[in-house]
Amino acid sequence: MKAREEAVFSKRTAWPADENPLSRKLAALKKAGHPVLDLTESNPTRCGFGYLRQDWLSPLASSENLLYDPSPRGALAAREAVSRYYARRGASVDPSQIVLTASTSEAYHFLFRLLADPDARILVAKPGYPLLEYLGALNDVSVTPFSLKPDGWSLDLAALKRAASVKARALMLVNPNNPTGHFISPGDREKIVRFCRERSLALLADEVFFDYAWNPDLRGVSFAAGSETLTFTMSGVSKILGLPQMKIGWIAVSGPEKEKREALRRLEIIADAYLSVNTPAQHALPFWLENAEAVSGEILRRVQNNFEAFMKLPEAGRFIKERPQGGWYAAADLPDSRSDEDWALHLLGAEHVLVHPGYLFDLEGPPQAVISLLPEPEIFLEGARRILRRL
Ligand SMILES: Cc1ncc(COP(=O)(O)O)c(C=O)c1O
Repeated sequence: MKAREEAVFSKRTAWPADENPLSRKLAALKKAGHPVLDLTESNPTRCGFGYLRQDWLSPLASSENLLYDPSPRGALAAREAVSRYYARRGASVDPSQIVLTASTSEAYHFLFRLLADPDARILVAKPGYPLLEYLGALNDVSVTPFSLKPDGWSLDLAALKRAASVKARALMLVNPNNPTGHFISPGDREKIVRFCRERSLALLADEVFFDYAWNPDLRGVSFAAGSETLTFTMSGVSKILGLPQMKIGWIAVSGPEKEKREALRRLEIIADAYLSVNTPAQHALPFWLENAEAVSGEILRRVQNNFEAFMKLPEAGRFIKERPQGGWYAAADLPDSRSDEDWALHLLGAEHVLVHPGYLFDLEGPPQAVISLLPEPEIFLEGARRILRRL
C-alpha cells in the first residue's frame, strides 16, 4: 500500500494517518458520553454571543446577488469598505491597494504563490499560529522559525539574523500574535521594516486579531499603513466580525510605489484564476464592517472578563503571570512534573477539560497550556477551576 501511495499522492500530503493521543482520548470520552469542557474552543459562533442574534443575513438576500459580475480584486464597494475600516484605525489604505480573498488562509496561499518558488523559505516568528506550517507546506514553502524573546515576546534581532542566514523570501508576523496576544512594539516594528527593506524580504502581517487590543495604547497603527517596505497585511471577517463561515478576507498591499504596483498586478492575476470570493459576502461587507465594532466589543469584554475571573481564583497568579495585550487566548505555565502534552492528557482524562499543549504553538521552556478565553463564562470558569485543582 505504501508503494502505491507514494506512486499516487504528492509527498507534501504524506501526513501521518494516526490521530494524536489527545484527539484519541477526546474521541473516546465523547463516545463514552462524557461531557468535556472545551477550553480550546476558538469558534466564536459556538460561544453563545449576543451578536449572533443580530441581523447579519438580510444583505445576503438582495436580488443584486443574482447577477455575476466578477472583478479580480473584488467588488469596488467592498474594497472601499475595507479602506474605511483602515481609516477608522488611523491607516490610509486606498481601495486599489486591496485584494479580497475567501479567507485569511487563502490570502496566505495567494501570497506564498506570489512570492516563493518551490522550496523557498519564509521566516516566521515563534511562538505562533500552528496552521502556518501546513499552509507553507501545501505551497511548497518551508517555514524557518525565529524565536521571539520569551520575556515579553519582543524581537530578538540576533535570532532573526541567524534564521535569515538561509535565503528567505519573506518575513511573517502575526500582530497581535496568536497565542501570546503580543503586539509588535513601535521599536520592533522599525527594526523589522528596516531588516526587510535591507534584505529585500517581503513583510507579511497577519492582523486578524488587530481589533482585540486589551490595552488600546499598545496597539499602534496597522502594518497596512506602512510604505517603507513591501508589506502585505491580511485580515477578514473571521475574527473582526466573529463570523468565520462568511468566508471573506483581504490582503492590503503597501510599500514603495513600484513594488506595490507590481505586486498588485501579479496578485490580481492569481485572484482572477480563482475568483473565489462569493458575491453575496462582497455585497454585504460594507454593512458588516460598519457594524463590526459592536461584535469585537462584545467578544473583547468576554475574553477580558473570563481572564479576570480566572485570575481571581486561588493560586491562579502562580500559573498566569502576565495579562495578554490582545487576542482571544492565554498561556498558563504548568508544573514541570510532566510535559505539556502529558498535562493536556491528564487534564482531559482526570477532569474532562480540554486545553492545547503549548508545543503546538512552539512555546518553549517550561510546560505550558494554551486556553481559549471565548467560552461562555460558566463553562470557562468551571474548566478553569478544574485545571487549577489539578495543578
Ligand atoms: C492568526 C490567525 N490567522 C489566520 C486565521 C484564519 O483566518 P481565516 O478564517 O480568515 O482563514 C486564524 C484562525 O484562527 C488565526 O488565528
